[in-house]
Formats: sequence, structure tokens, C-alpha cells
Amino acid sequence: MFPTIRRAVIPAAGLGSRLLPLTKAIPKEMLPVGGKPVIEHTVRELVDSGITDITVVVSGGKGLIQEHFRPNPALVEQLRKDGKAAHADEVERVAELARQGHITYLDQCGPYGNGTPVLNAARAFGDEPVLVLWPDDVFVAEVPRAQQLIRAYEQTGCPVLALMPMDPTESGRYGVPIVREDLGDGQLRITGLVEKPEPAAAPSSYAAIGGYVVTPGIIDELREQTRRWYEHRKGEVYLTDAINAYASTRAVYGQVIKGRWYDTGNPADYLVAQMAFALAHPEYRPVLCGLVAGLDVQDAAIRTEISV
Ligand code: G1P
Repeated sequence: MFPTIRRAVIPAAGLGSRLLPLTKAIPKEMLPVGGKPVIEHTVRELVDSGITDITVVVSGGKGLIQEHFRPNPALVEQLRKDGKAAHADEVERVAELARQGHITYLDQCGPYGNGTPVLNAARAFGDEPVLVLWPDDVFVAEVPRAQQLIRAYEQTGCPVLALMPMDPTESGRYGVPIVREDLGDGQLRITGLVEKPEPAAAPSSYAAIGGYVVTPGIIDELREQTRRWYEHRKGEVYLTDAINAYASTRAVYGQVIKGRWYDTGNPADYLVAQMAFALAHPEYRPVLCGLVAGLDVQDAAIRTEISV
């Protein structure tokens, strides 16, 4: 039996530069998809997967995240007094979610790179494996992505990366795994990741998406990288580098996730996510369908306006 995964880390200290200027004042984790900030989807996914200890690693300017999850009894009382019980329930539901996930916040410190928040949070882990989820991925899946990753860990006891089939022309946006063996049922033994290769150099047709089971051995590699960073003050501390160092001598697995994935940190995908959630909503679907039906006419009008 391998240790149970009950902890998770959400690195939320990034600048959200791909979505600027939208993300200058609003953390990208707080942008709405389906009427909720994207980070709430991630927290819900973790709680639904049995995680009871979530660390959100933040930086300056991310106070809205805390504000969103903090209970607000005065607001709830006011809403109830005003006869807005459904809204009051919604506000309470978010605070309850944060309580179930025991969310705590940590200020990021150390070298730049996505390995640093994981190492910052690792002080509390002891010898436990943890889930790391990027906060800007939204999944719609029958079995939550986090649970699919936990299952793969329970079968292997090794680090696991969430993977999705990738359009080969998009390899320059992702870490692409080097697959050693396909074990069936979406489970792959991998020997490392190539970060953002040109399509011709991509070692497989899968993309690493923002989900990892990180074991203490990977944390040791992050510690080593950070030690070297302080020696030379060069480069960044990346989870991918730690995984590659670990995978050079030990087993690492990839799990192809079943579900629909939206990378909301990317402007076009963010738009797609908003549309998809709106189309799934019984009230908004007819509005959008009406808009699409009238699109040709509007397109022509816009074209005329531009050419004038
Ligand atoms: C990071 C990882 C990359 C992964 C991607 C998924 O890259 O390094 O392997 O494919 O997240 O979103 P980033 O997008 O932060 O540059």
C-alpha cells in the first residue's frame, strides 16, 4: 500500500502575462468561467477527489483569491434579510468548499519558475506524495482529473503526469512526454519530458497538462536544483527539470486523462471555455444559439465598417 494522497498544491503566483491587460489587477485565477472563478473549479475538483489539505501559493496582488474563499457572514445575513436566499446559499457554498479543502495560503519566495511554489509548500509534506494542479486548467470529466491521477498513483506508487492527446502542430506550447511503454487504459511509462519542442522534434503526440502527482523523490530533485540556483543565480527552478532528473534513474508514469480540458491561461482557449460553459447552461444556450444564427449578418456589417 502506498501513502494516501490527501494534500494538494495550487501554484497561483504567476503573472498571467498572456492575458494582460485583463490580468493586471485581476488575478488570472479569478477570471470567470461558468459563473465561477477558474480556481474554484480546481478547488472543487480536488475536494471531489478526497483532498483535505490544499495549499495555494500566492504572490503580491492575489488577495482577491483569499477574499473569494473567505466566509462573509455579514453579507450572507444581509442577503437573507433582503430575501435573496439563493444568493446567500451560493456565498456560503464557496466558504464551505474552502473549509472542506482546508485551504491555506503561502507567499511564494525563492527563484523564478514553477518548481519553487511546490518546494515552498513541501515543508509541510513530510514523506507524503501530493497533487500539484495548475489553477488555470478547467476540466469537465465524469471522474475528476485529480481522481484519475490519484488512481494511477495508487497502482504504481510513482510520480504521475496528467496527459492529453495533442494536435501535433501545438507541441510548442507544452511539455511533450517521451513514452517508453504503453501499458493500456491510458497509462504510459515515460522517461522524461521535452519542453515545448518544434513539431518535428516532438517525441510523442501527448501534451503534459497542468496536473502532477509529486512524490518526495521529486521534491529532493527540486531541492537540489534550488541549491544549485543559489550557487549560480542563473536560470529557473522548473518542475519539468526535476521530473527529468528523477526519471533518468526511476520510474515515472503518464496518465491520459479522460475528459474535456480548457487551458484558460490562453486567450483563445479562455474564450472557448466561456462559450462551452454558456452553451451547457439551459438559460444561456438559446441566447448564444440566437447570436450564432445571426452571425453572418453581423459579420457582413462588421466587414463593411472595417473597410470604410
Ligand atoms: C507548464 C509545463 C508544461 C506543460 C504546461 C501545461 O508550462 O512546463 O510542461 O505542458 O505547463 O499548461 P507553461 O505553460 O507554464 O509554460
